[in-house]
Order: sequence, then structure tokens, then C-alpha cells
Amino acid sequence: MLLDIQNLCVVFRDQSTPTVAVERLDLSLDRGEIVGIVGESGSGKSTAVHALMGLLPGAEVTGKALFEGVDLLHLPDEQRRKYQGNELSIIFQEPMTSLNPTMKIGRQVEEPLRIHTKLPRQARKERALEAMALAELDDPEALYHCYPYELSGGMRQRVMIASALVLRPKLLIADEPTTALDVTIQAEILRTLKEINRREHIAIWFISHDLGVVRRLCSRVVVMQNGFVVEQGPVDEVFYHPQQPYTQRLLASRPTRTKLKGGAERG
Ligand SMILES: Nc1ncnc2c1ncn2[C@@H]1O[C@H](COP(=O)(O)OP(=O)(O)O)[C@@H](O)[C@H]1O
Ligand SMILES: [Mg+2]
Repeated sequence: MLLDIQNLCVVFRDQSTPTVAVERLDLSLDRGEIVGIVGESGSGKSTAVHALMGLLPGAEVTGKALFEGVDLLHLPDEQRRKYQGNELSIIFQEPMTSLNPTMKIGRQVEEPLRIHTKLPRQARKERALEAMALAELDDPEALYHCYPYELSGGMRQRVMIASALVLRPKLLIADEPTTALDVTIQAEILRTLKEINRREHIAIWFISHDLGVVRRLCSRVVVMQNGFVVEQGPVDEVFYHPQQPYTQRLLASRPTRTKLKGGAERG
């Protein structure tokens, strides 16, 4: 097992009434597995991964998150940062973490290498070009010298993916990575993620509010509501035979455009 989260609870206490964003979450991921987390907005999907990645300094985080047996939640900061940079990486919905507009693409893809390794410049560049090719960006060498404004939204998300892969992590967390993109681009990026998983055997924790999108990519799905897991199982089982009313509602509320596409959406 690669990741084994046990009894994860996250409470925000910065408001007058505390918000319990994640409650008793158990979740495990095998090496090379793709697991989907679905749930409507506010169900705690992002909070769970932010807790795992140490991105919630103000929140109360309890439970365990065993990564290859090491509890990331109870590591000294410095050691934890090593994992969070090298072994796990995260990509977000594009508009939230847009690229630095003043920095060339190549430099941005290389950034994690500059932070976490002592690789010399030429080796960094080689690794960056490799990661860009893996993210299925055409002509990495030319893109290396471009600025973000010269790229489409889909290409920018691929740059983020390349940057997340440049340290060859064992787990890639993708938090609604395609939500901001149109359906065609979304489908292409999902195919790329699947290909990355197949070629590099990188496990993927894929977050979406859309069970249909998760179905295309994942083998297993976990459904969250109000911080709780309400249902989980093999993705086709949950998709065709949802047990919980909440899951049935999620399926019923899927955007019309994907419904209209019908069978084609299996991709
Ligand atoms: N920094 C924060 N401070 C207080 N409450 C937060 C914070 N971040 C998220 N929340 C709350 O935690 C709950 C879960 O949010 P989130 O994890 O973003 O959901 P999702 O990613 O599933 O849309 C929501 O009720 C949200 O308002
Ligand atoms: Mg979210």
C-alpha cells in the first residue's frame, strides 16, 4: 500500500463557530492506482488533500496519513517537506494557481528541481523537457522559452502537470484539474493523466465534483458529503448502482452537456 489515511479529521477554528471540514476519513491507495474522490462543493475534498500536503497551517488536523508506512501528519516539518516535494505532488484547478506570468515556462517546470535537488542546470533542463513530453506538450524545447500568456488554458494545465511530475513523485494529487477547461480539452487531459499513470506507474488521487469524469479515469471512487465518506467502491458499481441518495443526486445533477454526449463520454 502506498498511502493509508486513517481517521483524518480537519477542523477550522478561525471563525466564531468551528467548521468540521473532514470527519473520520479513511482512504487508501495502492501503488499505481487511480482513485477518484467526488462530492459537491464544500464536501471536504480539497481540505483532505491540503491537510495531507501540509497546506493548512491554521487548521486542527488529526489522524494518520501513512505514506509507505511513514505518518506524514506527525513528521518534523523539514522531513515532511521532503515527502511533499518529492514523493507527492499536487495540481490544482488552473485559475487558482496560475503560473507566474513573468517567468518562462521552462524555469517554472524546473522550480521543484531547484528547490529539492542539487542538479546542475543542464540536467535540470533535461528533466524538465522529459516531464513536459510526459505531460504531452508538443515541442517542449520551443515551449521552454515561452511565457504563460503565449499558451492556451489546456497547455498551461499541462505545464502544471509537467512541473508536478518533474521530481518523479509516486503520488500525483489532481484537485479538479480540468474543471476550468472546456469539455474537449478536459477529455484530452484526462487521457494524458491515464497515460502518465500507465507509463510511469504513478498513483493518482483525482478530485472532481463530476462522477462521470471520475468514471473515465479511475478504478475506484470515494463519495464525500459534508466531510464524510458516504459511499465507495469500484467506479462502475457506484456509477450504475449508487446506493446512497446523495450519490444518486450527484449523478442526476451532472451537467447536461456531458449527458448529451452519451456513450461518447466513456472516452
Ligand atoms: N481556510 C478555511 N477556513 C475555514 N473553513 C474552510 C477553509 N477551507 C475550507 N473550509 C470549509 O471546509 C469545508 C470543505 O471545503 P473544501 O474542502 O474546500 O470542499 P470541496 O473541495 O469539496 O469543495 C467547507 O465548509 C469550507 O467552507
Ligand atoms: Mg475543492
